[in-house]
Amino acid sequence: MTTPLLSVENLVVEYPVADGVFRAVDSVSFAVDKGKTLAVVGESGCGKSTIAKSIVRLLTPTSGRIVIDGTDIAGLSEKSLRPFRSRVQMVFQDPYGSLDPHLTAVDIVGEPLRLKGIRRKSDRARKAARLIDQVGLPSTALNRRPVEFSGGQRQRIGIARALASGPEILVCDEATSALDVSVQAQVLNLLREIQQDTGLTYVFISHNLGVVREISETVVVMSKGRIVEGGDTEEVLARPKEPYTRALRAAALDPATMVGIKPRHIVSRLSTPSVGAPV
Ligand SMILES: Nc1ncnc2c1ncn2[C@@H]1O[C@H](COP(=O)(O)OP(=O)(O)O)[C@@H](O)[C@H]1O
Ligand SMILES: [Mg+2]
Repeated sequence: MTTPLLSVENLVVEYPVADGVFRAVDSVSFAVDKGKTLAVVGESGCGKSTIAKSIVRLLTPTSGRIVIDGTDIAGLSEKSLRPFRSRVQMVFQDPYGSLDPHLTAVDIVGEPLRLKGIRRKSDRARKAARLIDQVGLPSTALNRRPVEFSGGQRQRIGIARALASGPEILVCDEATSALDVSVQAQVLNLLREIQQDTGLTYVFISHNLGVVREISETVVVMSKGRIVEGGDTEEVLARPKEPYTRALRAAALDPATMVGIKPRHIVSRLSTPSVGAPV
């Protein structure tokens, strides 16, 4: 039996509000093995970003455990967290908002390298250039600023920056949601290639079950802070138990929201019981 690289156990996150607390995440548990992709799917406001922020410890959960490679990081102090900061990285929905407009691509990607202790600017620039190449951007991109890139290119820079600190886990929070459908498919392909090359583990967060189908082996479906169902992605898609998941699936099968694969392909995949599920 393999030990999951990341397991989230009975996660509870409450936000203080005027009349007490609001429980945004309620007893959520899931686990993901090294090199695999777990998707978290659900409508806006169901608590997905709160889970993402908990895993990268941009916030401290109210209770529960977040175990990474055997260590529960849920309650760790900032000092004890430091070694984990580089091991778990996040790719945000809005790369424009999260990229410093004054910096060039090479400096944006070089910044985590500086934090990692690579002191010489030329060393950082060389490594940053390699990462920018790895995410499929030409060398002419190196000295350009965020405003000069398209949305898809900016997201590639966001991915290169996340990769710069050498993470084992990448949390992608609606990382392709702001992109046109064809650009979404390209970025999904890139993420898949990176995973094949490096064995990265993904927590892929999306409101779109169609996107999730493209990238994940397992999925948890959330509604109002709780997991309503989960399991093998093909299985959940083929035989959704919850009306809520069926509604999400109907939206995913709408040609207007499809990403990358042809309708006939989807129908045959959905009607065939999945065999050889990952173990
Ligand atoms: N800082 C906060 N204070 C109070 N409520 C919040 C805060 N952040 C998020 N929420 C609420 O928590 C719920 C989950 O939010 P979020 O995790 O952003 O959902 P999602 O990413 O699925 O859209 C929402 O109802 C949201 O309004
Ligand atoms: Mg969100």
